[in-house]
Amino acid sequence: MLEVIDLHVRYGNIEALHGISFTVREGEMVALLGANGAGKTTTLHTLMRLPPPEGPVVTKGTIRFRGADLIGAPAHEVVAAHGIGLVPEGRHIFGNLTVMENLHIATFARKDRAAIKQDLDRVFALFPRLADRKNQRADTLSGGEQQMLAMGRAFMSGVRWILLDEPSMGLSPLLMQELFRVLKELNETGTTILVVEQNAHLALRYAHRAYVLETGRIVMEGPAHELAQNPEIKRAYLG
Ligand SMILES: Nc1ncnc2c1ncn2[C@@H]1O[C@H](COP(=O)(O)OP(=O)(O)O)[C@@H](O)[C@H]1O
Ligand SMILES: [Mg+2]
Repeated sequence: MLEVIDLHVRYGNIEALHGISFTVREGEMVALLGANGAGKTTTLHTLMRLPPPEGPVVTKGTIRFRGADLIGAPAHEVVAAHGIGLVPEGRHIFGNLTVMENLHIATFARKDRAAIKQDLDRVFALFPRLADRKNQRADTLSGGEQQMLAMGRAFMSGVRWILLDEPSMGLSPLLMQELFRVLKELNETGTTILVVEQNAHLALRYAHRAYVLETGRIVMEGPAHELAQNPEIKRAYLG
C-alpha cells in the first residue's frame, strides 16, 4: 500500500502542500479531487519523485510504498524498482511515432516477452480504437485516442500501480465515460489506480474512495458514494 503522511512540499519559497495525508491500498481505485491550483499535479509529481523545477521539494513528511521510503528515491527508481507509473496531464506521447511504436517503446525495460505480448493483446482489447489505428502516427489521433494511448503505454511498461493526472481533460462527455469505464476495468483486473480529477461527478461514480484537496490541504475524504451525497461536496464540486 501507498502511505502519505503529513507531506509538506514547496516550489522555491512557496509551500504548495501543507501537510497532506492519504493512503491507497493494493487493488483500490482512489480519486484525488480538487479545483485548478489545488495541488493535485504537485501531489503526483511528488509521488513520482520528479526533480525540480517541475517537481517540488519535500520539506517534511513521509511517503511509504509497500514499506519502502520513496522520499529519497529518484523518479526512474520509482518506476523500475517500485512499479508505479504516471500518465501525465497532456499525455506526452511521441507524435511522430505510430501507436504501435509508442506502445513498444514503453516496454524497453522489460524482458518478459510472453507477458508483453499478453499485455499488448489486453491493451487492444480494452481500446479497440487503438488496435484499428496501430500503424497511424500518434499525432493524428484524436484527444481521446491519445489519452487511451497514454494509458496503454503506462500499462505496457509493466506497472500495476498507475497515477493519472486529469485523464478526462478536454474530452467529450461520452469519451470521458468510456475512458473511466476502461479505468475501472483495469482496476478490477489487478491495477491499482490513483486518479486526479477536477470532474468530481465522473470520478466519484467510478472510484472506491476519494480525497478532496483545497489549496494544498485535504479537506474531506471518504467512500466515493458517501462523498457524492455530501451536501458540501454537492455544492462546491457537483454543481
Ligand atoms: N513547477 C512549479 N513551480 C512553481 N510553482 C508551481 C509549479 N507547479 C505548480 N506550482 C504551483 O503550485 C500550486 C498547485 O499547482 P498544481 O499542483 O499544478 O495544481 P492542480 O494540479 O491541482 O491544478 C499552484 O499554486 C501552482 O501555481
Ligand atoms: Mg494539475
